[in-house]
Amino acid sequence: MNFKAEMEQRVSKIEQILQEYLPKEEGFQENIMSAMNYSITAGGKRIRPMLMMETYQLFGGKSKVIEPFMAAMEMIHTYSLVHDDLPAMDNDEYRRGRKTTHIVYGHAMGILAGDALLNYAFETAFRAFDMEENKGIPKALQVLAGKAGIYGMIGGQVVDVEAVGKPLERERLDFIYRLKTGALIEASMMIGAILAGASEKQVEQVRSAAADIGLAFQIQDDILDVTSTTEVLGKPVFSDEKNNKTTYVTFEGLEASAKDVEGLSKHAIETVNGFHGEKEFLVELIQYLIHREK
Ligand code: IPE
Ligand code: IPE
Ligand code: MG
Ligand code: MG
Ligand code: MG
Repeated sequence: MNFKAEMEQRVSKIEQILQEYLPKEEGFQENIMSAMNYSITAGGKRIRPMLMMETYQLFGGKSKVIEPFMAAMEMIHTYSLVHDDLPAMDNDEYRRGRKTTHIVYGHAMGILAGDALLNYAFETAFRAFDMEENKGIPKALQVLAGKAGIYGMIGGQVVDVEAVGKPLERERLDFIYRLKTGALIEASMMIGAILAGASEKQVEQVRSAAADIGLAFQIQDDILDVTSTTEVLGKPVFSDEKNNKTTYVTFEGLEASAKDVEGLSKHAIETVNGFHGEKEFLVELIQYLIHREK
């Protein structure tokens, strides 16, 4: 398989889906649509919708009902970044190779653009009801809402923000990572499985593989924060140091962190390999993420 070409094909499909679901910039409130679209169309790896689509297809999903959920997930993820970059949080000025939303549109619009993306994500996901009768839609919405909230991404961000400048124990560090980053990756893959009609047991196995992928993904993000460049990442390096964050890298060093990324990813691949459907690209994707450079 030509992984790079397969990946590019998927990214352009996702871009096309996002375009279909983005709000038109019109009306007196046009500035908010412009701010939403600014952050979403800046690019980004689109890993979450990609994982969602691959998991959907792995379990035999074939319809377009997955598409509003893919768009919704990228909206929620993008909102989390817009707010994460605010001065009251990580205070970063670059994201996805552009000035951050609050720098370009002002702080108030930065906050509102995040709010708007979160709400619009649900407006978008609800459109699935108009597309087909699928018994999985309510469950998929429940997962989307839950994993974005206080028992998911927001919960992780809360403990992350409170941990600044304090020594952390491994358990709390893992809790932060599994929630702030893992939760949306879990939701992405679970929703794919649910909408394709996977069994409860399969959805739980998918969740567990996604949790490993999510933890590995955040550890790699920490590694890149100290080993990469702003040009490659499209966001500032040494953001964690600037904010006095305890990360996997400060906790156990670069080498052990890299080993953890590899171990967690291998474990996820074993779980995915236990499923019978088309999984070749998904396995390659998890493999690719171990050594991703951005
Ligand atoms: C960045 O996520 C924030 C983390 C959870 C590590 P991504 O690395 O997926 O960012 P984009 O979407 O590609 O910009
Ligand atoms: C953020 O973690 C995870 C989110 C939920 C946004 P980071 O603060 O490390 O993400 P980056 O490095 O700014 O993308
Ligand atoms: Mg942060
Ligand atoms: Mg940040
Ligand atoms: Mg980071």
